[in-house]
Amino acid sequence: MAAWILLVCALITLQAVYALSDCGVAPLNTRIVGGQNAPAGSWPWQVSVHYQSSHICGGTLISDQWVLTAAHCIIKNSLKAWTLYFGRETQAWPNTHEVKRSVSQVIVHPNYNNYYSYNDIALMKLSSPVSFTDYIRPICLASNSSQFYSSTSCWATGWGKLGNYETLPANAPLQEVQIPVIGNKQCSCDYIPAQDVIITQKMICAGQQNKGACQGDSGGPLQCKEGSKWIQAGITSFGVPCALAGFPEVYARVSEFQTWITNQVAGANVGFVTFTSSGTDTDSSFVCCSNNSGNSAKFAPELGFFIFSVKMLLDRILV
Ligand SMILES: *[C@@H]1O[C@H](CO)[C@@H](O)[C@H](O)[C@H]1NC(C)=O
Ligand SMILES: *[C@@H]1O[C@H](CO)[C@@H](O)[C@H](O)[C@H]1NC(C)=O
Repeated sequence: MAAWILLVCALITLQAVYALSDCGVAPLNTRIVGGQNAPAGSWPWQVSVHYQSSHICGGTLISDQWVLTAAHCIIKNSLKAWTLYFGRETQAWPNTHEVKRSVSQVIVHPNYNNYYSYNDIALMKLSSPVSFTDYIRPICLASNSSQFYSSTSCWATGWGKLGNYETLPANAPLQEVQIPVIGNKQCSCDYIPAQDVIITQKMICAGQQNKGACQGDSGGPLQCKEGSKWIQAGITSFGVPCALAGFPEVYARVSEFQTWITNQVAGANVGFVTFTSSGTDTDSSFVCCSNNSGNSAKFAPELGFFIFSVKMLLDRILV
C-alpha cells in the first residue's frame, strides 16, 4: 500500500514537473551529440506543415494550440489547404505517436517582405488544442533579452533536404544537424557577394562549412539547449544550398518577435525563456574583408538558385 501510494505520488510529481516546466522539455532526447536520423521523440515540438497533402515546411508547437512557422511558407491564404502533423517521425505511414489538426487561423507578420525575407514569421492556430505527450510538446521561445554569441552550438531539424533537389525518402526519419551560430557581423560579411541580401538584427545565422546546414526545413527551428530546456533561437528562412560552403543559413531571430507573438496569441501559454551566452562574443571584434573575393568566386555561378527557401518550396509543390 505504502509503495503504491509512493508510486502514485511519483507519477503525480512527474506530471507536475512536466506541467510546471512547460516548454522546451524533450523527455526522450538524451543524446549529447547525434547523427543525422533523429530518434523518435527527440524534437517533440517539430511540426510537419502540409499544404494540400504534401509536406512543404516545418514548424514548431509553441502552446497547445499555436504553431510558429515562416511567412514564406504561407503560399495561399486558404485555411482548408493546411494540415499540421504533430509527433510525426517520417513522411510515410504509420506514425504511431502522431496527431493531426486542421488550421483555424493564419497570421503572417504584417511587415513580411518576401524579397528581402524581412520578418519571415507566421503563426497558425490549431482547429482544436493538442494534448502533450512525450512525442508532442511545446518548445520555449527565446525571450527578447536573449543573447546568442558566435559559436553557440544549436540544432536545426527538418524533413526537407534543402541543399539540393533530392527529397528525403518518404520513410526517412526527421533529420537533425548540429551547427554553430554565426554572428551577424560575420554573416553580413559572408553574404556581401549576394547583393540583394541584407542581414538585419532580426535575423540570426547558423551553419558550418561542409556540414548539412541546409537540412533544416523552411519554417522549422534552430534550437539551442540551456540547462534542461530547448529554446528556439530561429525560424529557418533562407540560405544558399549547402554545396556552397561559407554561406550560413539565415533564420528569423525569434527573440526579436516576442512582443509580436505575445500580442497575436493573446492568452495562450507560450513560454519565453532567456538564453544567455557566457564569455565575450567574438563577433563584436570581427573584421570583414570587404572584398570577400573567396565567397564571390563561389557565389557567382550559383546565383541562379539563390534563396532556396521559396524556390525549393515551389518546386516541391509543382512536382
Ligand atoms: C520584452 O518583452 C516583454 C514582454 O512582452 C515586454 O514587456 C518588453 O517591453 C520587451 N522588451 C523589449 C526591449 O522589446
Ligand atoms: C580584391 O579582389 C581582387 C580579385 O577579386 C584582387 O585582385 C584584389 O587584390 C583584392 N583586394 C584586396 C584589398 O584584397
